[in-house]
Amino acid sequence: MPNVVVIGAQWGDEGKGRIVDLISEKVDIVVRYQGGNNAGHTIVIGEEKIVLHHLPSGILRNDKISVIGNGVVIDPKVLLQEINDLIDAGYDADENNLRISDRAHVIMPYHRAIDLARESTNGKSKIGTTGRGIGPVYEDKAARRGIKIADLIDPDSLSDRLKNVLDERNSYLTKVLGGDPINFDEMFSEYSKYGEELKKYSCDVSKLLNDSISQGKNILFEGAQGALLDVDFGTYPYVTSSSAGSGGASPGTGVSPTTIDTVLGIAKAYTTRVGEGPFPTEISGELGEKLRKAGGEFGATTGRPRRCGWFDAFAMKYAAQINGISSIAITKLDVLSGFDKIKVCVGYKYKGEELSSFPSTSHVLEEIEPIYEVMEGWQEDISDARVISELPIQARKYLEKLEEITGVSLYTVSVGPSREKIIFLNEIFHKT
Ligand code: GDP
Ligand code: IMO
Ligand code: MG
Repeated sequence: MPNVVVIGAQWGDEGKGRIVDLISEKVDIVVRYQGGNNAGHTIVIGEEKIVLHHLPSGILRNDKISVIGNGVVIDPKVLLQEINDLIDAGYDADENNLRISDRAHVIMPYHRAIDLARESTNGKSKIGTTGRGIGPVYEDKAARRGIKIADLIDPDSLSDRLKNVLDERNSYLTKVLGGDPINFDEMFSEYSKYGEELKKYSCDVSKLLNDSISQGKNILFEGAQGALLDVDFGTYPYVTSSSAGSGGASPGTGVSPTTIDTVLGIAKAYTTRVGEGPFPTEISGELGEKLRKAGGEFGATTGRPRRCGWFDAFAMKYAAQINGISSIAITKLDVLSGFDKIKVCVGYKYKGEELSSFPSTSHVLEEIEPIYEVMEGWQEDISDARVISELPIQARKYLEKLEEITGVSLYTVSVGPSREKIIFLNEIFHKT
């Protein structure tokens, strides 16, 4: 069995949670390697809907080990609530099936306060973040003033680290952003309690994963966000602050890149984006509204309406190239039923010239003109299709077009949110 990285191939919310939940059946360990509770991964099992923010989407299978890697940033209060909610719903989430890296960084109250204050004052340069403190916590990690889980669970270390950083952070928060300062004693007392509760989960994740690999176990690395939100290769500065591509899996968990066998990209049959930033295939007006309504496109984390647009095969090709995507799982094909015509973006024009590569600045991306191919739509409800031949011919042609333009073959096509609403096309789970 191969070690697989699963990533979002667009701007997030592609349906990573549901695909990871599905294929976690075939692996031993599922590990999140970046992002934090800016993620919202939805899994539907029968009538039950579960949204995970920090926890890997393998956690709903009690016989799998779920791991949070060092590259993830953790809001301890939110994580503890998530764990307790799962336990209340009848799932296991104890130290036997959930492990958390002692090197993961902790989202502190000043991170959230800084994120929110910036977003409220930024005006035109607003990113449209989730307000969870993600940018500020990764900044502190790189600036070497972060708090790790290892500090959180050791009161002396927590106190030392906080004394080192709080004055500086409070000064920035109050003097630059006009916010309120964070009180040391209150924060220390609250956060050391979270540390006590999380202590039993904390471990050396790199050792755990490498030992498991030596024993022949296989690992699924679960990405959050998406390729176009990656801090290096996304539509900067309208990105998140971590390496959301497949490359983040190694530094985010402490295993060598050579252990990764294959990369599965998840993409919706159309495109969505939450927050600000360029979106070449965005559909405005009634048609965009129709797509949002049909797809239930409202954020799983913030509830914000998602911006909707046509499938961008040019961007997908770029995502495949950067991340070594060797197969794609297409989700939400059912949502496209009822559209007379469906457009696919096959290239970009900038100042009248067709581009040969994806623009490196948002400035250029704002100005490009998408080149579309127009496909025939279909009217039928396709949610009961379980093999490709049960799809209308127009839907099959549409899928063939996506394969042709992106140059990547399809692994699955899903036609509804629950586990069984899926069509398998190609097997990727045999090691070469
Ligand atoms: P993630 O962040 O990539 O895990 O995706 P989200 O959970 O934020 O958003 C995906 C949404 O689409 C969720 O509400 C899923 O339940 C839903 N979904 C996933 N696959 C399908 C599908 O094939 N059809 C439909 N109709 N909904 C789907
Ligand atoms: P999942 O894992 C969609 C977006 C935010 C904003 C930008 C930066 O569910 O696909 P941040 O709070 O990370 O600093 O916000 O990134 N964003 C997401 N969009 N899905 C996500 O996660 C996202 N996580 C962050 O809307 O535009
Ligand atoms: Mg999501």
